[in-house]
Amino acid sequence: MEPIIQDINFNKKLFGDDFAWGVSTAAFQVEGSYDIGGKGESIWDVFTNKKGKILNGENANIACDFYNQYQHDIDLIKKLNIPNFRFSISWTRIFPNGTGEINQEGVNYYNRVIDYCIANDIEPWVTIYHWDLPHALELKGGWTNRDIIEWFTAFATACAQSFGDRVKHWMVMNEPAVFTGAGYFLGIHAPGRTGIKNFLPAIHHVVLSIAAGARVVRKLLPDALIGTTFSCSYIEPYSDKPQDIAAAKRADALINRLFIEPILGLGYPVNELSVLKGIAKYSREGDKDNMHFDFDFIGIQNYTREIVKYSFFTPYIGARLVKAENRNVQLTEMKWEVYPPSIYQMIKKFNSYQQIKKLHITENGSAFKDQVIENQVNDPERVKYLKANLEQVLKAKSEGFKVDGYFVWTLTDNFEWAEGYHPRFGLIYIDFNTQQRIIKSSGYWYANFLK
Ligand code: NOJ
Repeated sequence: MEPIIQDINFNKKLFGDDFAWGVSTAAFQVEGSYDIGGKGESIWDVFTNKKGKILNGENANIACDFYNQYQHDIDLIKKLNIPNFRFSISWTRIFPNGTGEINQEGVNYYNRVIDYCIANDIEPWVTIYHWDLPHALELKGGWTNRDIIEWFTAFATACAQSFGDRVKHWMVMNEPAVFTGAGYFLGIHAPGRTGIKNFLPAIHHVVLSIAAGARVVRKLLPDALIGTTFSCSYIEPYSDKPQDIAAAKRADALINRLFIEPILGLGYPVNELSVLKGIAKYSREGDKDNMHFDFDFIGIQNYTREIVKYSFFTPYIGARLVKAENRNVQLTEMKWEVYPPSIYQMIKKFNSYQQIKKLHITENGSAFKDQVIENQVNDPERVKYLKANLEQVLKAKSEGFKVDGYFVWTLTDNFEWAEGYHPRFGLIYIDFNTQQRIIKSSGYWYANFLK
């Protein structure tokens, strides 16, 4: 099926020859085969088996069966003319218990994936950690235990040594604000812990681990290009009342600045968020320097904007998000507002950090209600979303802001964490009963855009 909306004048050439185009996935969301090939249990394997944690009680035991169908899916990436494929390594396939002896079967599996990409002229971009911590390490405290810096460094070492002869682009971690905030403060993601006493040490150990992981990859692979990725959303105050403006600044510090700033050597945004002063309790001498790493590129991931209001009742931050549902705006299946100027604002914001050398959009995309009609999936809303976002990226680029790549989230519909299989983000539809794949019209649209 050919797409309905295609503007031949809007294509990749407008972004220049050096711009990196890609598509992103993550191990836990697509692989399935949760207990195959010597794989150990991750916190997400455990969390998805707890009652009431995942919408409709779903789990990712099978997911997209990417573990078995990777050749077919990489063939589809090729068919869509996508030159770069970002995916993550499941820690428990390499170290089933988090540390100790390497599970060679796990290494062999990623070797097959990487080799198949390369054989098809697709460049693999590897995320070392995309949220699936070994359960065995969570039992020892997970990200709240300072020893995790060592455990994570050993995992990053194994990845660099096993795959570094073929993988040039590395991303140390994915969206630290989300996996610490949702997993260690709100308890809505694995491992389901709550409260400031878990959140603060998790933040600090993640920052130190990102930098330590990057350092070891640099040492082992001096020619590698090393990055790490951050979630971000354009934040606007609900009104021009000073209280709302100040609340928006605090939310911005939490949502957009908490991890990037210490990593760039700027320290935690304690002026806006005084609760972060509590991190001192978990700090040791030398940490300030060890938190910093000179990355070759930074990945930012943007989906929407947030409107923020002062709130006396929200502890620590005194601010709350005004739900998009109550704002009379277009929503995706995640109930996120469709607001393409957000990506432009985020490119601008991250450009204000002089330390950033290259900036890639490592995720952007949308979930809509897709329907199969006569074996076809027509998704004009997703096409519109992608095009509008890319127009904003181009606007930023033509105004002279640094932006060097763009990766769609995501290749196929997959397991959307606590939301299960309900939100469909893929360029390719999956019937999860049969594992049949159907390229959506957005997939054809992206393929034509990249042709
Ligand atoms: C960010 C995360 O990295 C990814 O795992 C998730 O599926 C998408 N956003 C969509 O929510």
